[in-house]
This record gives sequence, C-alpha cells and structure tokens, in this order.
Amino acid sequence: MTHGDTGPDDPRRHLEQARSALAGDGPLVVLSGAGMSAESGVPTFRDARTGLWARYDPTELASPDAWRRDPDTVWAWYRWREHLVARAEPNAGHLAVARAAEGREVVVVTQNVDDLHERAGSPLVHHVHGSLFAHRCETCELAADAGPAPEDPVERLAPPVCRFCGGRVRPGVVWFGENLPAAPWEASLRAIDSASAVLVIGTSGLVHPAASLPDLAAENGTPVVEVNPGDSGLGPAVTAHVRATAGDAVPALLQR
Ligand code: OAD
Repeated sequence: MTHGDTGPDDPRRHLEQARSALAGDGPLVVLSGAGMSAESGVPTFRDARTGLWARYDPTELASPDAWRRDPDTVWAWYRWREHLVARAEPNAGHLAVARAAEGREVVVVTQNVDDLHERAGSPLVHHVHGSLFAHRCETCELAADAGPAPEDPVERLAPPVCRFCGGRVRPGVVWFGENLPAAPWEASLRAIDSASAVLVIGTSGLVHPAASLPDLAAENGTPVVEVNPGDSGLGPAVTAHVRATAGDAVPALLQR
C-alpha cells in the first residue's frame, strides 16, 4: 500500500466518509452509550467489575428482582455510581457534542444514566434509560432528593423514605424488564424521524429498544455514523464506522 493510498480499510477514509455524512446544518441526533463516558473514568456497563463490586454482576443489581430481594445492596450500588459520576468530568467527546449545538440543532439521546452531557453544556438530552440523579418514590412516583452520595463505597445502605407518602425511594434508572420512560422515548423517536444525520457513540447496541434507533434512521435513508473502537451489534444500519474512542474521534468529526 503506497503512502497516502486510501484503500477500503484506510481509517482516514472512514473518517472522511463519516465527516461528510455529518456535515450540513440539518438536525443531528447523537445516540450515546457507556463508551461515551469511558474516558471520563465512568466504567462502561459491562466492564464495570472494579473494586468493591467485582463479585456482583451488574445485570443482577440493575433489576426489579434484586431491588425486591435486597434493596440496601442495590441502593448502595447506585449511590456509589452517583459518587463516581459526581467526581468525573465531561470528556472531549461530550464537549464536542455540546459545541456542535451552537451551530445546528443537536438532540442527544443517551442510554447513560450520568449527567456528563448536561454538564458539558448540551442543551437537549433525552435519558431513555433514566438518570442516577432522578430518585423517586416507588409508590407515589414523587421525585425525591436523597442528598449527596456517600464519599466511600459501602456494601449496603437503606434507601430513604418518601417524605410525602412514606413509600421507599428508588433509583431513577430503568431496570431490566421495565418500560422506558414514555416522554424521553417518544421525543427520541421524533428526533430520529427528523434527523439529517445520526452519530452513535460508544454503545454495544445490544439493549433494545434503544439499539433499534439507528435502524429506524437507516430505514429513512438517514446516514448513521458509529464511533466505537470495538465491534457492536449495530451492523448494517451504520454508514461509516470510525474505530476510535469518543474523546479522539468526536471532536474531529464535529469540528466545523
Ligand atoms: P456497553 O458496556 O454494553 O458497551 C459500551 C460500548 O462502548 C462497547 O461497544 C465498547 O466497545 C465501547 N467503548 C468502550 N470505550 C469506549 C470509548 N472510549 N469511546 C467509544 N466507545 C467506547 O454499554 P451500553 O451499550 O451503553 O441499560 O449498554 C446499553 C445498556 O445496557 C445500558 O444503558 C444499560 C445496560 O443494560 C440500563 O441500565 C437499562
């Protein structure tokens, strides 16, 4: 391969293809997954087996059964993740997505439960899997303020009680088997419908229905660019796959 040759696998060619698919001033939808926050030090969902929780399977903790069986362990795990996120900073990828909204409509649809897109300055973020910071009463659904997360990870912590009805306060995230929150989900479908381009960042594309959003865009003929150093389940919906991290690729892709 001679110098500068842009053969089919030349990463520079993918980057150029991706940049041109994202160019223009039409509405951009950014669909982010845990890989978006990896460079901010927030463990990705399926690799988050660090420290105190090495012996727990997160898919076991993020479930209604685990909550019914052992609410103190589940609550402690979520409070620990809040603490991790509170110490993290938005990375160059989050900041580039926020900056892009200065020049065009950018709707962020995130599977992440952290607040790093908001803290980077993105004006419109739909949390289709809920948010670590949206505690609510499991009985009356009233929003609850659980106060600051503990500084040190603990294995068990009793969830607070709803000040209105006395019910138990739960994490505001979507658990396996639960429905997605209707408002963010419907807004995400509308955003995909009117998008001129979709940028998918850091998701394994394994969890539906969020993982079906790129397919819906592709069915509309909307270009879909994926940023992921690894493979994902997104498959044929993707127009161009940039094999790089969010912090490296997203600023280069969205630079005006
Ligand atoms: P995963 O942990 O399944 O996938 C993270 C993806 O990010 C992988 O494909 C990695 O290759 C990629 N990745 C890792 N580091 C990256 C980086 N620096 N830049 C870009 N990509 C990187 O996380 P999600 O796909 O977000 O649901 O998982 C989807 C859902 O599964 C989560 O929202 C959660 C879980 O069940 C709920 O909590 C309801």
